Amino acid sequence: MSSPPRDSERLRRKRGSIPSMEALGDDSLKDQSLSIVVVGASGDLASKKTFPALFGLFRRDLLPKDVAIIGYARTDMDDEKFHKKALAHIDTKKYPEESKKFTKILSYIHGPYDKDEGYQKLEAHIDEIENKRPDNEPRNRLFYLAVPPTVFADAAAGLKRNCYSRKGRNRIIIEKPFGKDLETCRELLSSLKGEWSEDETYRIDHYLGKEMVKNLLVLRFGNIVLDATLNKNNVSNVQITFKESFGTEGRGGYFDEFGIIRDVCQNHLLQTLSVLAMERPVSFAAEDIRDEKVKVLRCIPPIKAEDCLLGQYVAADGKPGYKDDDTVPDDSNTPTYAGLALFINNPRWEGVPFIMKAGKALNESKVEIRVQFKDVTSGIFTDIARNELVMRIQPDEVIYMKLNSKLPGFETKAIPVELNLTYKDRFTDVDIPTAYEALIHDAIKGDRSNFVRDDELDVAWKIFTPLLHWIDGKGPGPKPQPEAYPYGARGPKDSAAFSAKYGYKRPDDDYTWPTTSVQANL
Ligand SMILES: *[C@@H]1O[C@H](CO)[C@@H](O)[C@H](O)[C@H]1NC(C)=O
Ligand SMILES: *[C@@H]1O[C@H](CO)[C@@H](O)[C@H](O)[C@H]1NC(C)=O
Ligand SMILES: *[C@@H]1O[C@H](CO)[C@@H](O)[C@H](O)[C@H]1NC(C)=O
Repeated sequence: MSSPPRDSERLRRKRGSIPSMEALGDDSLKDQSLSIVVVGASGDLASKKTFPALFGLFRRDLLPKDVAIIGYARTDMDDEKFHKKALAHIDTKKYPEESKKFTKILSYIHGPYDKDEGYQKLEAHIDEIENKRPDNEPRNRLFYLAVPPTVFADAAAGLKRNCYSRKGRNRIIIEKPFGKDLETCRELLSSLKGEWSEDETYRIDHYLGKEMVKNLLVLRFGNIVLDATLNKNNVSNVQITFKESFGTEGRGGYFDEFGIIRDVCQNHLLQTLSVLAMERPVSFAAEDIRDEKVKVLRCIPPIKAEDCLLGQYVAADGKPGYKDDDTVPDDSNTPTYAGLALFINNPRWEGVPFIMKAGKALNESKVEIRVQFKDVTSGIFTDIARNELVMRIQPDEVIYMKLNSKLPGFETKAIPVELNLTYKDRFTDVDIPTAYEALIHDAIKGDRSNFVRDDELDVAWKIFTPLLHWIDGKGPGPKPQPEAYPYGARGPKDSAAFSAKYGYKRPDDDYTWPTTSVQANL
């Protein structure tokens, strides 16, 4: 076997096989001047995600040459204090020069979210920056709303009234939560739609920016073995798992309004599921991809109460339980863990359970997709493991396929082995962008394929709303009480039985990944 190419240049040259997005439209703002406005610039999301992502693009030279980043929020601070905030989650020791240059394009304006006067001040400031540019430069603007949902509508309207560029293109990026159920989502969408057209709106679900999720299209449709086998004839069940090893840690009051299903399942995991299960799109163009995602989601009926397992963590080993947080009501039944089974009623997937599991305060932090294939015909084999295709989304991207192989030696004995593609070993000098870097880059280029369309949100809520109303006590019958599980456990004690109910077979208990070579039976 030849050694893998370690050289990113060679990999890059080979990449031509997918038509690049630039070829599909000239919506890109990359080669013109651009003003990026971050609304909510003093908040957590901005300092943890938005500014580091903007910096990542800046140091890779992926922002337009003439770019200004303007922060806007209520907090009164001078530029120096603002720079500190913006750089708080950027490795300035690793990039001393670049981060210094980055601060030169940053400025800040403070003002209220619900009054025109603040946005007028912002407009005057943007104008001043744009007036220094050549006269014929278009005045393109990208607005990033890093604000809580309660001010979405005010901010979107205030920006439209006061800061909308008449001499260039405008785009607005917003992020979840998009409502709490179908009705509130529709209200929110229609209030934003009054101001911003669908074409101008980029709705982030950051899972769509994750490298492994973006890879699903290529993996599925670029490999005939997977293309041919990912269907109800060959697949027993699919699991999409999200585990976090920490609890709500002081943010319990905020979390309690949403719960794990709204926080993770209805958006991130469902988006992942739709890319994993959709039919082959006509092309890689954004609307072709999003059409297929909507189609597959429309085949999923609302989740039933009996296909659901809820959990809530309690104190263990000195770690506080969910309800020990003073901001969480004592009688809260908000799930911090959920196991859900979804079914897709189309010819490809009918009858295959898609098991979603998401939980906080579990034994590890991991997000993965696990496709478990059906048993092979018995006869020559008695007890042989199932094939599995596992794609780990985080941490550290890995794809592995569990196969059976003969144990080397005189005996004919099968053992499970894995074909293993670990990104950091295989793609040694490829710098994988973070999800937010990838998405902001797409928004600048005008590529909407990895953003959530309005009709997608609508179908996504239809699948989850009856279940959520039941949990919230708005459905028929009493509200369910989640099963308690200790902080740091694998989940509620019924979680293994829940997967088994939908056909998932655990590998033999004595089977562990052979870390070194398997001892041959000579
Ligand atoms: C797997 O799916 C293909 C259709 O894509 C089908 O022809 C084949 O029989 C299936 N395999 C099994 C074991 O059912
Ligand atoms: C895959 O290979 C990497 C090393 O390249 C190793 O660290 C990892 O444990 C392997 N994973 C599996 C599931 O075999
Ligand atoms: C956590 O539990 C899972 C089973 O749900 C197990 O496979 C995994 O090895 C455990 N992780 C750690 C770090 O113990």
